[in-house]
Amino acid sequence: MVVLNMQPPADNKVMEEAAAILKIKDLTVSRSGKVVIHDINLSVRKGEFIGLVGPNGSGKSTLLLSILGVLRAQQGSIQIYGQKPMSRSILGKIGWVSQAAAVMPKNVRITVRELVQLGTLNSRNMFWRRKGIHREKVDQAMKMVGLEGVADNDIARLSGGQRQRAVIGRALASDAQFILLDEPLVGIDRESRNSLLKLLDKLCHDENKTILMVSHDLAAIRQTAHRMIYLEESIRFDGLTEDFPDLTTLAGLRGIEPVHGHSHDKNIPKSIVLGTEKNEHSNKEEE
Ligand SMILES: Nc1ncnc2c1ncn2[C@@H]1O[C@H](COP(=O)(O)OP(=O)(O)O)[C@@H](O)[C@H]1O
Ligand SMILES: [Mg+2]
Repeated sequence: MVVLNMQPPADNKVMEEAAAILKIKDLTVSRSGKVVIHDINLSVRKGEFIGLVGPNGSGKSTLLLSILGVLRAQQGSIQIYGQKPMSRSILGKIGWVSQAAAVMPKNVRITVRELVQLGTLNSRNMFWRRKGIHREKVDQAMKMVGLEGVADNDIARLSGGQRQRAVIGRALASDAQFILLDEPLVGIDRESRNSLLKLLDKLCHDENKTILMVSHDLAAIRQTAHRMIYLEESIRFDGLTEDFPDLTTLAGLRGIEPVHGHSHDKNIPKSIVLGTEKNEHSNKEEE
């Protein structure tokens, strides 16, 4: 079309849009009849490491579940690798890691290798097994997450941080290109947290994976993410990590005073505005 031809070739905005692997347009999602997130516009390019932050109940998990296709858009659209969420052709390209991994029930009897191997099961190869290739993928994934030494250990015997890495290993074995993590740092000790962050950073830089991580650990996000998104029903900030506003400015963006106390949810702190350093410990104490 003539209109398209008239676009200036060096229009960065247009180029960026075209290269996006995730495109969200005017998204509204409701749960139990209540609008939880609205007017979400977002595009993510391959290789980005994005930190998604916001107070408890602000819709972060809802946004991830919408991207995964578990929750439906009430309005607007989501395109991931040019497809609708949960399309057959993108199965396996997306990995999901939740905080539940670190606190997996102790009575699940499965080895690290078996868990990682589960990642190689998908609709594309269900009926066409190539054991050699699978084994290689599993070995490689275990190596990437630094668990090759405990491959045959029961996951119940691992630390929370190791278990979290095992779940990431499962995503890697599936060839996941885009990894979504929902509070992966909850319930793990400081050392595991640091090694997990290092791993994610490496996956992003060396393997060109795209990472979208939800965390209330602002220090962790600042340390690893190139871009930050602050969500509270809608996106209040989306930009470079170094431009992320200080807490006072953030309170202004939220348009309300910081919320204190009154949360019944024991897993996630009341608000990121309450600070970040103590969260890890307070979670632990409440467990
Ligand atoms: N299954 C559900 N049914 C109805 N409302 C829900 C459900 N899960 C979450 N919500 C509501 O959606 C809002 C956003 O929740 P969520 O996306 O989990 O927030 P976050 O992950 O940022 O803490 C909250 O008000 C929460 O009460
Ligand atoms: Mg959540």
